[in-house]
Amino acid sequence: MKMVQPLTSLLLTLPLFIIFHQSTLAIATTYNVVSLGAKGDGKSDSTKPFLSAWALACSSAMPASIYVPRGRYLLGKTEFGGENCKNKAITIRIDGTLVSPADYRVLGNTGNWIVFRGVSGVSIYGGTLDGRGQGLWACKASGKSCPIGATTLQFSNSNNVFISGLTSLNSQMFHVVIYNCNNVNVQGAKILASGNSPNTDGIHVASSSGVTIMNSRIGTGDDCVSIGSGTTNLWIENVACGPGHGISIGSLGQNLQEDGVQNVTVKTVTFTGTQNGVRIKTWAKPSNGFVRDVLFQHATMVNVQNPIIIDQNYCPDNKNCPNQVSGVKISGVTYQDIHGSSATQVAVKFNCSKKYPCSKIILEDVNLTYNNQPAQSTCSNAGGSASGLVKPSSCL
Ligand SMILES: *[C@@H]1O[C@H](CO)[C@@H](O)[C@H](O)[C@H]1NC(C)=O
Ligand SMILES: *[C@@H]1O[C@H](CO)[C@@H](O)[C@H](O)[C@H]1NC(C)=O
Ligand SMILES: *[C@@H]1O[C@H](CO)[C@@H](O)[C@H](O)[C@H]1NC(C)=O
Repeated sequence: MKMVQPLTSLLLTLPLFIIFHQSTLAIATTYNVVSLGAKGDGKSDSTKPFLSAWALACSSAMPASIYVPRGRYLLGKTEFGGENCKNKAITIRIDGTLVSPADYRVLGNTGNWIVFRGVSGVSIYGGTLDGRGQGLWACKASGKSCPIGATTLQFSNSNNVFISGLTSLNSQMFHVVIYNCNNVNVQGAKILASGNSPNTDGIHVASSSGVTIMNSRIGTGDDCVSIGSGTTNLWIENVACGPGHGISIGSLGQNLQEDGVQNVTVKTVTFTGTQNGVRIKTWAKPSNGFVRDVLFQHATMVNVQNPIIIDQNYCPDNKNCPNQVSGVKISGVTYQDIHGSSATQVAVKFNCSKKYPCSKIILEDVNLTYNNQPAQSTCSNAGGSASGLVKPSSCL
């Protein structure tokens, strides 16, 4: 008995050891888009070679990588789908720039430029995405009728996504959208568009859980980060925001049936010259949506128009908002160590729903000034408490 035991265990572990050893030694196959026909001349359409690289990487059950060398690669609408993808570890390393079609009418109303749909285990390292949105922005500014324009990069219905060191320039519409995803990590992103470019949100997160955005710089014509319904367990840390509309939860409550937003942390963010700092915004109409458990911590405001704001009266052109009261229930929002300068007299504004007042709003160590003078705070239908130094003094 004593002899047999080690022998059987050796026989059992030997083949297992070999299999394990082979898989750890396997070097990820790399598919270079240029070898597959892509041209980095900024003019030749490289959509097909990129899709070929994706199909090859997907067909392998072993980790695989796609490499994009230096150069400018023109891509039309490109969708990387997960439906035939066996591979759960695809790395895309980009040393070059991907450019969208020069004429914005090519993407037109298709909604997206580069999309990953239903993928799992995709990592993107580096790369610049140039949405060339200037033509569309000018069209929109002229008042002519123009297409809506495309989101530059979207992940939908996807899991375990890692994006590191990505640059996104001049998107036609939103730069990055994360929709219906789980466990998405965005690190070291640089997202830039002109401060007056329309609807060029930096990162939009909705219906997703476990999204992390860290160490990034975002300056656009709309929200640096916008947080839509159904977002839970979101973490944003160490972001420089501006120009833009700030970091916004909302707009929420446009629909009667809507998933809530829960457990959002926004910490160590600097807002420079933005329209808002930390904002929660809801439509003034019936909805079963909610916002719960939000922490805004360690924010620096530099000349921000509305450093701290909850606005539940959103109703553009006063249209389609029967009785003008928001159904979205906001509770458990903490503002901790928020300091700096407001560009307007009212630095703290809580304008909550008459029917469902905001509750458990907590202000702790807030110091906001206006023209080196004390700023003001205004409250409607907001309850909660203040502690530590709070300037302007709390109206809760
Ligand atoms: C809140 O979200 C964070 C990630 O952002 C997560 O680590 C934490 O466990 C979540 N808390 C709860 C109570 O779910
Ligand atoms: C509040 O901020 C102002 C302007 O930055 C600063 O002069 C003042 O010392 C701060 N107050 C406290 C108590 O930290
Ligand atoms: C709240 O919003 C309503 C509607 O826009 C406005 O009339 C009111 O003055 C606002 N209250 C505060 C305290 O800002």
